[in-house]
Amino acid sequence: MKRIFSGQWSGYELIDAGNNKKLERWGNIITIRPERNAYFSPILTNQEWKQKAHFEFVEESTQTGSWKTLKQGTPKEWQINYKACVFNLRLTKFKHIGIFPEQQTNWDFIKNHIHKEDKFLNLFAYTGGASLIANSAGADVFHCDSVKQIISWSKENMESSNQANIHWVLDDALKFAKREAKRGKLYHGIVMDPPAFGIGAKKERWKIENKFPELVQLASQLLEKTGFLIINTYSPKLKEEEIQDTVKESFPSKRIEINKLSLKSTTGKTLEYGELTRVY
Ligand SMILES: C[S@@+](CC[C@H](N)C(=O)[O-])C[C@H]1O[C@@H](n2cnc3c(N)ncnc32)[C@H](O)[C@@H]1O
Repeated sequence: MKRIFSGQWSGYELIDAGNNKKLERWGNIITIRPERNAYFSPILTNQEWKQKAHFEFVEESTQTGSWKTLKQGTPKEWQINYKACVFNLRLTKFKHIGIFPEQQTNWDFIKNHIHKEDKFLNLFAYTGGASLIANSAGADVFHCDSVKQIISWSKENMESSNQANIHWVLDDALKFAKREAKRGKLYHGIVMDPPAFGIGAKKERWKIENKFPELVQLASQLLEKTGFLIINTYSPKLKEEEIQDTVKESFPSKRIEINKLSLKSTTGKTLEYGELTRVY
């Protein structure tokens, strides 16, 4: 499969990767986090990683863990920018710190394809990277996530970015999308970043490989003829051919691009993050 690379910027650098970990710089703060796709050897030594890093995430289960401070006195909350968007970062027990920097290529794609007053839907929206970008271009943004604290975090990012007027939807993404389709609502841009294992409206557990056809079908009902759709998936069980066939069925006359979303470290290592599908 072809790769598409996100770029680094002044606020974010993937310094090195390897031994199932990644060394990243967020503004002035450097972290070590687990990364199962970094199955190769890093370029820098373990000692060099430890000398550079301020915090290291130590896994305590497959889902959670804690942060070890390697440089005492480092603030545990700070901000970085991407263009005019400001992100508030903090150390969470889920190893994430508030943005998925590999989304940078999508943020630029959105900026280039959205117009003033277009309707834009961000499903499984996390802290709102895509929402802030679309909002900064003057779009009418609907941001849907099922976790209350995550919606509050996104609002904080909107305020820190001196933006306003994003519509917050605290709901199950599929439930909201179905309601919007019933109302005949249309969007010019739709982005979805569903987790590999999801929890639905009735607390039922689902796997993306089973939900994918329904998500794509709903998106086809909600997308304007000239609109664009971006879907990120992170499951080895959802193969390129299956993505291609499913998407083609719902969007027979649109351009479909499927790539491995990737980032190159400063030391030259390539890290892959999952499948990125664009329909436009
Ligand atoms: C992988 S993250 C998205 C990252 C985001 N694209 C970014 O780059 O900032 C997945 C998000 O989906 C949310 N989520 C999980 N299940 C959901 C559901 N059923 N409905 C809506 N949101 C859900 C989680 O709270 C989380 O914020």
